[in-house]
Amino acid sequence: MKTNLSFIKTARDKIQLLNQKLLPHKLDYVTCNNGNDVAKAIKEMVVRGAPAIGISAAYGMYLTGWEASKKNKKLTPELFKKQKQLLDAARPTAVNLMWATHEMLLVANAFFASEAAKAKDANLKLLLKLYEKALEIHNDDAERCLAMSNNAVKYLVTKYPKEKYNILTHCNTGSLATGGIGTALGAIRLLHEKGKINMVYADETRPYLQGARLTAFELQKEKIPVTLTVDSQAAYLMQKRLVDAVFVGADRIAANGDVANKIGTYGLSVLAKAHRIPFFVVAPKSTFDNSIENGDKIVVEERSPLEVLEIAGRVIAPKVPVVNYSFDVTPQANITAIFSEDDTLE
Ligand code: MRU
Repeated sequence: MKTNLSFIKTARDKIQLLNQKLLPHKLDYVTCNNGNDVAKAIKEMVVRGAPAIGISAAYGMYLTGWEASKKNKKLTPELFKKQKQLLDAARPTAVNLMWATHEMLLVANAFFASEAAKAKDANLKLLLKLYEKALEIHNDDAERCLAMSNNAVKYLVTKYPKEKYNILTHCNTGSLATGGIGTALGAIRLLHEKGKINMVYADETRPYLQGARLTAFELQKEKIPVTLTVDSQAAYLMQKRLVDAVFVGADRIAANGDVANKIGTYGLSVLAKAHRIPFFVVAPKSTFDNSIENGDKIVVEERSPLEVLEIAGRVIAPKVPVVNYSFDVTPQANITAIFSEDDTLE
C-alpha cells in the first residue's frame, strides 16, 4: 500500500526531515548533516512519533560516521557510543529511539571487532554497513506497519463485527510518525480500504496538537472521513455511543503490557472501559521494552511549559506554573488487545 506522505528524504550525505512543527500550513524540510543535527530535530519535534524518531536516529548514527570520515578522521567505537548517548537523550520515553541506536551500535562494534576494521578503506566499509542497516530499519518499519495493521483489522472485524465503524484515535500515528502506513492510523487506513470506516474522530491532542495538525491533515489527504474533536469531548462522544472502538499507538510497552503513549491515552482507556468500548494499541516489536517490568518504571518525558502557555507562538495564559507530561501510562488491564507485526496480546 502506497503512503503519500513521508516524514523523511534520505541521501548518502544527509537526511531531510519534514518539519512537522509547520504542518499543515507549510511543507518545509530541515536538513540534517550529522547525528547532532538529528538529535536537535528530535528534541525540537521537527520529527516525532516513536518509529519515525528511531528511523531518523539510525540515519543520524550513520551520518556521524559520514561526517567524521569526510574530515579524514578515523572512525572509532567511542565516536558512535557518544553519538548514541546524545541521540537517546533527545527524547527519553519512545524506546524505538534507543532500540534503533542500539542496532546501529551493534553493527559498528561488530565491524570494529572484525578483520575488516584493519583494512585501508575501513571507514568506507563501515559506512556502507551503517547505511545498509539504517535503510533496513527504515524499510522494515513499513512492512511492520502493514502486518500489525492487518492483525488489528482481522481482530476487530472478527470479534466486533459491524458494517462500518466509528473509531476514536489520539495523537498522530500515521505516515508522519512511521516508515509506512502507520500503527493505529495504519489499521484505520486498512479499515477504510475495506469500506469499513464510517467516521474517524481525531482528538486534537493538546498541547502539541498532533491530532489537529497532523492526523486530520493525513486523513483528509487520504480521503478518509475525519471529524476533529477536542480531547475533553471524548467522554460525551462515548456516552452518546458515537465511538465503536479506540485505536492508539505506543511509545514504550513494559513487559507486563502497560503502555506509555501520548498524554491523554490513559484517560481515554478509563473512559472506554467505563463505556464498555474496546481499547486497542497498535505498535511494532521495537516499541516493546521487556527490560522494564511494568509501567511504573517508564521514564515519562516532561516538556517545556511554553507548549501549554502558548498556541502557535501566541500567549494564551498568565505566567503560572505548568505541568506538561508528554506521555502517560495505560495499565494493561484497560487494554482490550495490543497488535504487533507478530502477534495479538489480549
Ligand atoms: O510526542 P510525539 O508526537 O512523538 O508522540 C507520539 C505518540 O505518542 C504516538 O502515539 C506514538 O509515538 C505512536 S506513533 C506510531
